[in-house]
Amino acid sequence: MCGIFAYTGKKGKDAGGILLKGLLSLEYRGYDSAGIYLPESGSVKTPGAVAELRKKIPKNFKGESGIAHLRWATHGEPTEKNAHPHADCDGEIWVVHNGIIENFKELKARLVKSGHTFKSDSDTEVITHLVEDHLKKSAKGAKSFEKAALAALNEIRGTYGIALQYKNEPDKIIAARMGSPIVLGLGGDEHFIASDPSPILPHTRKVIFLEDGEVAVISPDKHRIFKLDATNVKRKATKIDWSAEDARKDGYEHFMLKEIMEGPEVIENTLRGRLIPAKGLAKLGGLESVAKQLEKIERIIIVACGSAYYAGLVGEYMLEEHAGIPVEVELGSEFRYRKPVLNERTAVLAISQSGETLDTLEAVREGKRRGALTLGIVNSVGSTIARETDAGVYNHAGPEIGVASTKAFISQLTALALLTMFLGRQRGMTAKEGKIIANELRALPAKLQKLLKQKESIDILAKKYSGSRDFLFLGRRYNLPVAFEGALKLKEISYIHAEGCGAGEMKHGPIAMIDEKFPTMAIAPKDSMYQKMISNIHEIKARKGSVIAVATDGDKEIAKLVDDVIYVPETIDMLSPILNVVPLQLFAYYFAKEKGLNVDRPRNLAKSVTVE
Ligand code: M6R
Repeated sequence: MCGIFAYTGKKGKDAGGILLKGLLSLEYRGYDSAGIYLPESGSVKTPGAVAELRKKIPKNFKGESGIAHLRWATHGEPTEKNAHPHADCDGEIWVVHNGIIENFKELKARLVKSGHTFKSDSDTEVITHLVEDHLKKSAKGAKSFEKAALAALNEIRGTYGIALQYKNEPDKIIAARMGSPIVLGLGGDEHFIASDPSPILPHTRKVIFLEDGEVAVISPDKHRIFKLDATNVKRKATKIDWSAEDARKDGYEHFMLKEIMEGPEVIENTLRGRLIPAKGLAKLGGLESVAKQLEKIERIIIVACGSAYYAGLVGEYMLEEHAGIPVEVELGSEFRYRKPVLNERTAVLAISQSGETLDTLEAVREGKRRGALTLGIVNSVGSTIARETDAGVYNHAGPEIGVASTKAFISQLTALALLTMFLGRQRGMTAKEGKIIANELRALPAKLQKLLKQKESIDILAKKYSGSRDFLFLGRRYNLPVAFEGALKLKEISYIHAEGCGAGEMKHGPIAMIDEKFPTMAIAPKDSMYQKMISNIHEIKARKGSVIAVATDGDKEIAKLVDDVIYVPETIDMLSPILNVVPLQLFAYYFAKEKGLNVDRPRNLAKSVTVE
C-alpha cells in the first residue's frame, strides 16, 4: 500500500536526503513507483524503486521542506505520469495520497469543465485542482491555503491519508486522514508526517496519530490539529518506545497476526468500487477489454501454487455452481508438463499473490502458447504475471510480508466471488442471485471483525493442543480446500505433520491414523454437508480422537459432540471459506508462537518462489 512521508524543518537544506531515507523505510509496504517534491527545487518521479528515484535527483535538489511518496497503483498504470506527488494546473499545490477518492470522476468532470487541465489518470490529482479552485475563489490571506484545503477535503469522498504543500507557503504542510493512517512526528525544530512511524523514528519518538476526519497543519516549530468542520482538537503526543521494525508491524508482535487482523479492510479493498448491489452485478474494470471474449469461454483452467492453488479449488466450486462454467484447477508446477488440450474458448486463470511465482508464470506462458485467453488474479501490481496475462483482477490486499499467505488468501477468495458474479451474470445467473451474493459480500467485513474478536480464545486453544505432533483437517465441498489450507498453514509455520482431507474420503485411508494423540480440526458449518460432517466427526470420536469444530454461530448441538468449538458467523455457502479459514490461520499462528518459532520467516521457505 502507498506510503507517505513529509518533512519541514530548520536544519539546513537537506529535506531531500531526509525524505529519501524515509521512503526507504516505507519500502516494506510494497510499491511500484516513487516521487518527491521540494518547493525550492521542484519534483522528481519515477516508476520503480527508490534507488531509481535517487539516480534521477539532480545535485542541486535542496530545500528545507517537502513531501514524498511510494505508490501502489490503484487508478492508472504504475508510470511516471501517475506517480505522486501530483500538482494543480500551475504547479503550485502538490499532494501525496494513500487511499482511493471514490467521487473523483464527478469531481474531475466538473473541474475539467471549469478549465482545469489534468496530467495523470490518477484519482489523486483531483485534490490539488480542488484546492486550486478554492484558493482562487478565496480572498488571499494568511490562512487561505488552509481554508482552501479544508474546503476541498469536505468535497472528497473515499479513503485518504494526505499530505499537501503549497509552493508559496513552503514551510507549511497539511495532512488529513480518512481511513488511511497518518502519524505526525514532533521534533524540536522539525515536524514530520508519515503513513506509519517507521520513517519518523530515527528523528523523534514523539508522535500523534491522527483519527479519521482530522486535519493537521505542521510547520518547523509547531503543529495544530482540527476536524473537517474546523473545530480544534487537543491531543497529547505519544512516546513510541518500539523499534522501526515494530512500527511497521503496527504494534503487533508479528506481520502474520497483523495481516490476519487486516482481513476486514482487505475484503473492503478488494470489493471497493466493484459491486453494483442494486443490480446484482460485479464491475471488473480489468476484464472490460476481454468481456466479449469471456462471453464465449467454455472452460476455465485455474493455475496456481500453494495457498493460491487452494483458493483456486474454492473458485472451482463457486464458478461451476453459480456461473455454470466447467473449471479445472491445476498446480502451476504440473500444468506445463501435461501437454494440456486448450483452445481459444479456454481461459487460463493464474492466481498469485506475488505475481512472480515461476511455476504459475510458466503455466500462463504455456496457456498462451496453446492459444488460450490468459487471466490473472494478482496482488502485486505490475508484477510479471500481471503484465503477461491478457487481462485480470488486482486483489488490492496491500503487501503481504509474512511468508504464510493469510490476507492474500482472503482477498483471492473475494476476487473469485466477484469473478463468479461477473461471469455468472454473462450467463444464467439472475439479478436476484447476483444481489444475494453482492449483499453477502458487503456484509463480510463486519462478520470477520466479529470473528477476529475471538483471537484470545483461539490462542488458548492453540496452547492446549500445542503438544500434538500431527493434525488432521477435515472439510467438505466449499470447505474441503479450507481444510487443505488449514493444514498447510500449520505445517509451514509450526513444522508439524498436518493433513487436509475430504471428510468423506477419510474412511478410505486417513482414518487409520486416528487415536487419542491425533487431533482433528473439523470445518463443519451449517451448510448442505452438515449432517455428513457430523457423521464423520462421530467416526473420529469413536476412535478416541479429539475434535475441534469450526461451526456456525448458535450451533449448540455440535458442542455436545466435540471437544472444542470455534464459532463463525453465518453466510452463504460459497462465501463461507472466507470466514472459516481465519480461525485456522489464527490457530496456526498461536500454535507456532507457542513453540517459539519464527512465524514470519519459517525455515526453508521464501515469500516469492521464483525458481522451479
Ligand atoms: O505469490 P504466490 O501466491 O504465487 O505464491 C504461491 C505460494 O508459494 C504461496 O501461496 C505459499 O504456498 C504460501 N507460503 C502459503 O502460505
